[in-house]
Amino acid sequence: MATGSTPRAKHVAIIMDGNGRWAKRKHLPRAMGHQRGVEAVRKLVRNVEGMGIDCLTLYAFSSENWKRPAEEVSDLMGMLRKFIKSDLPEFIANDVRLKIIGDYKALEPDIVAQLEDALERTSKGSRILAVALNYGSQDEIVRAASAAAQAGEVTAESIAANLDTADLPPLDLLIRTSGEVRLSNFLLWQAAYAEMLFVDTLWPDFTPEHLQQALDNFADRERRYGGR
Ligand code: IPE
Ligand code: IPE
Ligand code: MG
Repeated sequence: MATGSTPRAKHVAIIMDGNGRWAKRKHLPRAMGHQRGVEAVRKLVRNVEGMGIDCLTLYAFSSENWKRPAEEVSDLMGMLRKFIKSDLPEFIANDVRLKIIGDYKALEPDIVAQLEDALERTSKGSRILAVALNYGSQDEIVRAASAAAQAGEVTAESIAANLDTADLPPLDLLIRTSGEVRLSNFLLWQAAYAEMLFVDTLWPDFTPEHLQQALDNFADRERRYGGR
């Protein structure tokens, strides 16, 4: 049973994995898996209000995902363009504040412009949706440690203060779908004391009910942070 610290997960991050396998199982093109993955994101963002989460962080494209065939990368970028365009008004209306982590400025210039416009137009929102784009945790830590060193002091606090997530609440729960049990260069620093949950559901099949189950699971855990 949960004791001591609050059982509410304020910051939940998800490694949205399994789009390709979802499509393969249904004998559909891989792009269809990604498309259904986008729909799962939309549905989750629409339903997350009321679950007590202040920040939802989604791993959408890793700095290693450039290794995929050019056609798949291009499909994913096309879906990102469409998604921002179609869902931005809804974010604004629903008090969502968009945040991007990762080296998003290296994406194509029109996407960077679209993202920056979305960041600006959602800046008053209170529920954070953080999207990891061209994100790699090791790169993020290197950038943060260099910035800390340049400012003269390398400590855990000064590194954390320079991470892309510096203005986000501490990570409480990290979920990965699709049955893979690895972090794939996601939030390595931030996960130091996060609870982890690996579920077999493929991302396109992941629903708000699955997220609620994950939160219920989290509420039953005892976090110790090295104490006793
Ligand atoms: C996750 O699904 C989406 C991205 C990494 C962009 P995958 O495309 O990795 O799906 P699997 O792992 O091949 O099933
Ligand atoms: C991690 O999934 C990245 C995202 C979900 C965006 P991958 O499918 O890229 O990870 P690996 O290759 O299985 O480790
Ligand atoms: Mg995968």
